[in-house]
Amino acid sequence: GDKIDQIIDHKLFTEADIHEMCARLGQQLTEDYAGKKPLVVGALKGAVYFLTDLTRQMDLQEELDFMDVSSYGDGFESTGEVKIITDLAADVTGRDVLIVEDIVDTGLTLKFMKDLLAKRGAKSVKCCVLLNKEERRTTDVEIEYYGSKVGNEFVVGYGMDFMNMYRNLPYIGVLKPEIIASLSEK
Ligand code: PRP
Ligand code: MN
Ligand code: MG
Repeated sequence: GDKIDQIIDHKLFTEADIHEMCARLGQQLTEDYAGKKPLVVGALKGAVYFLTDLTRQMDLQEELDFMDVSSYGDGFESTGEVKIITDLAADVTGRDVLIVEDIVDTGLTLKFMKDLLAKRGAKSVKCCVLLNKEERRTTDVEIEYYGSKVGNEFVVGYGMDFMNMYRNLPYIGVLKPEIIASLSEK
């Protein structure tokens, strides 16, 4: 609608693009995790939209769990410190854990989760992320599966937010720079 046109500069991935990435990744994971019962861990809140589409493209007896971790708070820049807001319900000991993330930026959030779950005794800890913003990485973390690389643009939609807004856009768009600038001044 009109309101969205005022904040989105352009679409980066359409619903069809997203579906294609989910189908490809789901198929790959189905092959790679065949015979296993992975524990799929979604990082709240951004990963929710991707996780529900991805798992519906996986033919596995996976189990779901969620962890609410946050490094950005309500802002637009990472605080550099990752906090557990809500921990997993499941015991990861001996489990093949697959972390699902919407986007990896600095890598701090993912690195924190991977290290934590490995330390808790998971048998394996891998990740599947939709968008890999590689040029922003400040920490060394392996990305086993990803949908696409993205440049250093502020993306919103399909789970990704700006100050907790726009997560529910069905596509992924680039936020207009002036929107970021105007709100950064406040
Ligand atoms: C966003 C995003 C990733 C993380 C990536 O989450 O969903 O989890 O930041 O950034 P990083 O690689 O620099 O750590 P955020 O902390 O904003 O919480 P949210 O998922 O609830 O939006
Ligand atoms: Mn997140
Ligand atoms: Mg966020």
